Amino acid sequence: MLYVLSGTNRPGSRTRQVAEVVAEHLKKYKSDIEIIDLAKLPYSELTGQHYSGQGLHTEFTKAIEKVNDSEGLVIVTPEYNGSMPGALKYFIDHWSYPRSFEFRPVAFVGLGFRWGGLRPVEHLQQVFNYRNAFAYPERVFITNIGDALKDGKIVDKNVTDLLDKQANGFVRFITALKSQNLFPVSK
Ligand SMILES: Cc1cc2nc3c(=O)[nH]c(=O)nc-3n(C[C@H](O)[C@H](O)[C@H](O)COP(=O)(O)O)c2cc1C
Repeated sequence: MLYVLSGTNRPGSRTRQVAEVVAEHLKKYKSDIEIIDLAKLPYSELTGQHYSGQGLHTEFTKAIEKVNDSEGLVIVTPEYNGSMPGALKYFIDHWSYPRSFEFRPVAFVGLGFRWGGLRPVEHLQQVFNYRNAFAYPERVFITNIGDALKDGKIVDKNVTDLLDKQANGFVRFITALKSQNLFPVSK
């Protein structure tokens, strides 16, 4: 299973709509695609006591198990104050190392206004490079998101083409890694 991680818990977010578009592109190249939606997770249950995973709410445990079992992740992140949403980093900070991260194929889509989520994507790349993931090099940045997304559809053909190219390339990237047993790693 390949997961698209919708990187904010803001209800009605544009990020969630973009995650749906990304999933549709991926489904052209791979059948088993699902979305992990941070807006569905019970953040009010996180108390700061759960970084070890002990006592974590089952909805978080299930979402982290999806990450751990995934063949790859496409993380869709909006830009909040020049970085990724706190909710996304907070979710990631409950993952386990190395299991959740190491050698996991990961791709990034950013959205925002002027810079199209360049900063949160680069911050995420730092996190995932540090944690030894396999980052797919072609990122997609959706600028002027208020104009680029209408009624849940991307209306900018250039962005649509970039999302499709990334989806195709990322699925082939995963296939290539698997063919050489680079992921999942046999211990
Ligand atoms: C708390 C917050 C901070 C934001 N900061 C930025 C920012 O620094 N740069 C930017 O381009 N857009 C910023 N935005 C706008 C979002 O990128 C924009 O609302 C976009 O729709 C994606 O967010 P959404 O998925 O919550 O809808 C911010 C939005 C919120 C809610």
